[in-house]
Amino acid sequence: MKIRDIHVRKFRNHTQTDAVFSEGVNALLGQNGEGKTNLLEAISYLCLTKSFFGSTDGVVLQVGENRFEVSGELEGDTGIRYHVAVAYEHAEKTKEFFINRTRVEKFSDVVGQFPVVVLSPESGAITTGGPADRRRFLDFVISQSSKVYLEDLLEYRRVLRQRNKVLFDSKVSRTDATDLLEPWNEELVDRGTRIVHRRHAFLEELQPLVTESYASIAGGTERPMMTYEPSVDGKESTSEEAIKQGFLSELKRKAGEEKRFGITLVGPHRDEVTLEINNLGVRSHASQGQHKTLLIALKVAEFLYLQNKRNEKPILLLDDIFTELDAHRAKRLLALTNSVGQSFISTTSDSVFPTEFNWANANKRFVVHRGTVEHEGARVLAN
Ligand SMILES: Nc1ncnc2c1ncn2[C@@H]1O[C@H](COP(=O)(O)OP(=O)(O)OP(=O)(O)O)[C@@H](O)[C@H]1O
Ligand SMILES: [Mg+2]
Repeated sequence: MKIRDIHVRKFRNHTQTDAVFSEGVNALLGQNGEGKTNLLEAISYLCLTKSFFGSTDGVVLQVGENRFEVSGELEGDTGIRYHVAVAYEHAEKTKEFFINRTRVEKFSDVVGQFPVVVLSPESGAITTGGPADRRRFLDFVISQSSKVYLEDLLEYRRVLRQRNKVLFDSKVSRTDATDLLEPWNEELVDRGTRIVHRRHAFLEELQPLVTESYASIAGGTERPMMTYEPSVDGKESTSEEAIKQGFLSELKRKAGEEKRFGITLVGPHRDEVTLEINNLGVRSHASQGQHKTLLIALKVAEFLYLQNKRNEKPILLLDDIFTELDAHRAKRLLALTNSVGQSFISTTSDSVFPTEFNWANANKRFVVHRGTVEHEGARVLAN
């Protein structure tokens, strides 16, 4: 997948930005606060209908304005082109998404069609943060590879909110909610079971990709390991039926506790994925370098996984990440970036690119300054 061009209107500090991108590396150079991350976020709106940072539409809308628009032309690996546009109106709080000028009814249909992999300082939370950060990683990747998963996830969250409300209300009013919970339990278990089942399969497929990527960065002596620890499991089996039975019996076992706390204590919203390197917990034992290597390995694995599932090379968004890496890892990541497809690299210092880096042909440099983006031509570079 490639983005050929982008047109951004009244989005964060980009009042009117138009850019034609290259098929390879697109470097976004600029000082702090000029609008590099904002442009990546606009790309995220085109590909995923929303911000990868989780910012709301009202927040990314330029201050004092009522409507933002991001549009552009995307091209799939087989050469098919898509005109994509997203527009948000603040007064009505409406967002519309168009593919080839046809309005998309369900945003979940778009997610995954234009796959992206994001590596930003926030991504570090995958290895350093809590279980919710790792669940977010799983959900972000699996949602892009499976529409069914995303729909299950959205529905699960809705049911969870409702069920929590019932539990909370009954706790406050000191009434028995058993009957009221009944209709929500079934949906919770059905959707939740499918989510757990899918997460099992995903992690199984991801593990060899992570091992391989890690070895290619760090050499062969360290072995990373991901272990899925679902809140509900099927004991020895990962079949859907076994997970479902496990879910039901766990719900029964925790029923009293749930009523006491007024919250749902069982289900994939409480899953964990533990990360280890050579059998030692990453959060507790890994060095900073190991954290970074593992993070890059996870991202490379994510790229390969999505490419495989979607039959499409994801677009790679690297936000301000090179300055955090030592020379060896930076070189590895750049070499990878150069070979994968289209990428966007934001940085305050172009020293991350070796002097021999080829800025002709497939690679382009852009200067981002006060919400404007300008292609830095070969003539400028020669000086
Ligand atoms: N909704 C908004 N409306 C107008 N301006 C905004 C909005 N949101 C953020 N900005 C401005 O955008 C700028 C930040 O842009 P951005 O985060 O893209 O910077 P950056 O180039 O990535 O910088 P850094 O190198 O520090 O990461 C800030 O000056 C901020 O005031
Ligand atoms: Mg930034």
